[in-house]
Amino acid sequence: ATALNTIAKSKGKLYFGSATDNPELTDTAYTTILDDNTMFGQITPGNSMKWDATEPEQGVFTWTGADQIANLAETNGQLLRGHNCVWYSQLPSWVSSSGFTAAQLTSVIQTHCGTLVGRYKGQVYSWDVVNEPFNDDGTWRSDVFYNTLNTEYVSIALNAARTADPNAKLYINDYNIEGPSAKTTSMQNLVKSLKAANVPLDGIGLQGHFIVGELPSGIEDNLRAFTALGVEVAFTELDIRMTLPSTAALLAQQSTDYETVVSACAAVEGCVGVTIWDYTDKYSWVPATFPGQGAACPWDQNLQRKPAFQGIINGWNS
Ligand code: G3I
Repeated sequence: ATALNTIAKSKGKLYFGSATDNPELTDTAYTTILDDNTMFGQITPGNSMKWDATEPEQGVFTWTGADQIANLAETNGQLLRGHNCVWYSQLPSWVSSSGFTAAQLTSVIQTHCGTLVGRYKGQVYSWDVVNEPFNDDGTWRSDVFYNTLNTEYVSIALNAARTADPNAKLYINDYNIEGPSAKTTSMQNLVKSLKAANVPLDGIGLQGHFIVGELPSGIEDNLRAFTALGVEVAFTELDIRMTLPSTAALLAQQSTDYETVVSACAAVEGCVGVTIWDYTDKYSWVPATFPGQGAACPWDQNLQRKPAFQGIINGWNS
């Protein structure tokens, strides 16, 4: 069988999924593959649920793009991951630069997360309530949220999300926490402190933006370390980039690397699923951000399957 979601579910997982984005949905060759829920049992909007897209001015909510993705998930019979409530990036300047007091910013977060999560109540499997709170050295990211509210902003956002949709799984999502690292330790300490304080938290999202041949070691043990703290885990944004041009050797290593990541999720009961950060190189974020790198996805620019596709199958079957 080659239906990646069907295979994942046969191994006891909830989903294999993909990110997508609104401009891509006019590409019918692209949507033909995306809409197949035996291939992708879950989708994540790559941009259209972010703060700049959903509340560009204070109190002015715009749902066109977000609704389109939510409706697509429902039409296709796919789970939906919400991405995201609170993040330093794609954040309107009215949030970052208004000089809000702690009380004002608390209310701003509560209104944003409550309204956003509430709009899709009952439609979202899991929400990335807080995205990328840490620097790579494990210190807190210096953004308007931390600088105004210290670490309290995390529980403010999580509590607002829980109130707005009591059945959605609430996640904190970050990159470079897929193996042991200073940032991983900080995230584990945050989970412990939130759990100890009875703050609602259900999952940790490991983004999984990797480089071919450079996976961290100990991914499976790392998943177990998180689940031992009482949270589920998921790979939420998996892609594995390379320096271009791609070669047969790089594509083979990429396949091995996809297999390694997926097999780690397969092996750990509390790992609920894997989401790739779009399925095709045609719409990958990588080349625009890392010039000279790309080919990070399991399908190529022409929507043809790469060796990584078989790597994912091998990972689920491991
Ligand atoms: O919306 C504007 C449009 O008006 C303008 O004409 C166009 C010109 O460049 O830019 C458009 O904004 C772009 C936006 O995507 C929507 O397409 C931004 O330039 C571009 O930077 C932005 O990139 C997104 C990136 O997050 C921004 O941080 C990527 O598509 C998206 O895949 C990426 O996703 C993030 C996750 O949210 C969090 N984890 C890392 C991941 C990869 O960076």
